[in-house]
Amino acid sequence: MSGFEARWLDLREPADIAARDRGLLEAAAAYLSARPNALAVDLGCGTGSTLRTLGPLVPGLRWRLVDNDPALLAEAERRRPAGSTVEAVLADLGELDALELKPARLATASALFDLASRDFVAGLAKRLARERIGLYAALSYDGTIAFDLPHPQDAAVIALFNAHQRGDKGLGAALGPDAGAVLAEELAAQGLDVRTAPSPWRLDASMTGLQTKFVEGMATAVGETGEMPEAEIAAWLDARLAVVGSSFCRVGHLDVLALPK
Ligand SMILES: C[S@@+](CC[C@H](N)C(=O)[O-])C[C@H]1O[C@@H](n2cnc3c(N)ncnc32)[C@H](O)[C@@H]1O
Repeated sequence: MSGFEARWLDLREPADIAARDRGLLEAAAAYLSARPNALAVDLGCGTGSTLRTLGPLVPGLRWRLVDNDPALLAEAERRRPAGSTVEAVLADLGELDALELKPARLATASALFDLASRDFVAGLAKRLARERIGLYAALSYDGTIAFDLPHPQDAAVIALFNAHQRGDKGLGAALGPDAGAVLAEELAAQGLDVRTAPSPWRLDASMTGLQTKFVEGMATAVGETGEMPEAEIAAWLDARLAVVGSSFCRVGHLDVLALPK
C-alpha cells in the first residue's frame, strides 16, 4: 500500500490536468497514434488520471495499469473511460525487473518520479532504451513554491519541505525536487530523444480545497523533519490558511517526454 488516498488524488486531478504541458501531451498522443491499438503502461497509476487525460486523445489505445495499492488500482479500473481496454497489474515498482513492459510503445507516469531514487530512474531509462519504449512522465515536482502573499517563514518552510521530499518513499532515497531533471538526464544518456516543459500548478481561489490540503501537507512534512519548532510551523500554517481563499500559489513541476530515435 502506498498511503496515497483517492480523495487526495481526486482533489489534485483538475489542477494536474490544467498544469500538464499541452505540447508534450499531444506529442505523446501522436506517438501512440502512429501504431494502431498501441499499448501504454502507466506506472503508479493511482486512480487512472493519466488514462483519463491521455486516453481520449488516442482512439483504440490499450492500457496496462500498474500500482502497488490494490484499492487505487481497483478504482482506476472502475473509472476507466467506456470502451477502453485495461489490464490492471498489482506490482511493486521496486521490483522493476519482474514487471513486463513489452509490447508497450510508451510508458507513462504522473506525479511518480519525485518519489523514486536516481538508481530507479537510471534502471528504468536503461530498460526503456533497450526495449525501445518511450516515456511520458508528467508532473514531477521541481522544488519551487511561490505564494503571491508572502510570509516571512515561507523560505524556511519550503526548504524543509523539499528536504522531506528526499526521504525514502519506498523506491530508495527519493529524488524529490530533482526528479524531472535527473529523469531527462538519464533518458538522454541512454540515447532517447528528450523534451521537457514546465507544468506548474496554478492554485487560485477556485482551488481553495487543494491549496488547503497542500499547505497542511507541507506543515506535516516540515513537522516530521524535526527541524522547526512546532509553534512556528503552526503559526505559518494558521497564516497560510487565513488567506487561502484569496491568495495565489504556484507549485512548479516538470513534464518529460522521451522517445526512441
Ligand atoms: C502521487 S500518486 C500519483 C497517482 C497518479 N499517477 C496520478 O497522477 O494521480 C503516486 C502513485 O504511485 C504509486 N506508487 C508509489 N510507490 C509505488 C511502488 N513502489 N510500486 C507501485 N506503485 C507505487 C502510489 O500507489 C500512487 O498511486
